[in-house]
Amino acid sequence: MEKKAQLPVVVARIILVGFMGAGKSTVGPLLAQQLRWRFLDADRVLESLTGSSIADIFSQQGEAAFRVREAEIVRDLVREQHLVLALGGGAVETAAVRDTLLNTPETCVVFLKAPLDVMISRCEQQPGADIRPVLKDRERLRSRFESRLPHYLNAHLVIETGTLSAEETSQQILSAVSALLKENTLA
Ligand code: S3P
Repeated sequence: MEKKAQLPVVVARIILVGFMGAGKSTVGPLLAQQLRWRFLDADRVLESLTGSSIADIFSQQGEAAFRVREAEIVRDLVREQHLVLALGGGAVETAAVRDTLLNTPETCVVFLKAPLDVMISRCEQQPGADIRPVLKDRERLRSRFESRLPHYLNAHLVIETGTLSAEETSQQILSAVSALLKENTLA
């Protein structure tokens, strides 16, 4: 684990960023359970608010419209305390999201990092792989990953998840933040 930016003095929420297949939605619930915090996945919140799947939003309204909605949801969700929030892999493409990540107090941003081929093969094994819009666009996968990487690297913590289990990843995050928790609710 690498500590990048200065960690906040107090941590009231943790935001997981990283490419598709990095493990955000697997690690997030485990971490939330150990902290006795709530876990939310920004994509699932967006789907329940709009009543449409991410794949349908992409195909019917286009990626730009999806990004606008995604940024609004992130802006609203970061007001919550005691929250572990997983962002969609492309959320950092939007300047407003990056600004929220860098400038929301009491927020620890964690980048789950893994080799691109490992993440792609994890995604391929998951249900719904054939309808994930960004995964389907094979030609642009590597360039998307590379252009997002500098933004992911602005996180407070960078964890290489390629060889770690979800439990080990969650444990590493906990050890980094446990002394900084706003109220210690650790299970
Ligand atoms: C996307 C990743 C997806 C989802 C959408 C776009 C991306 O989230 O937000 O399909 O641009 O990489 P996950 O990273 O949770 O798969």
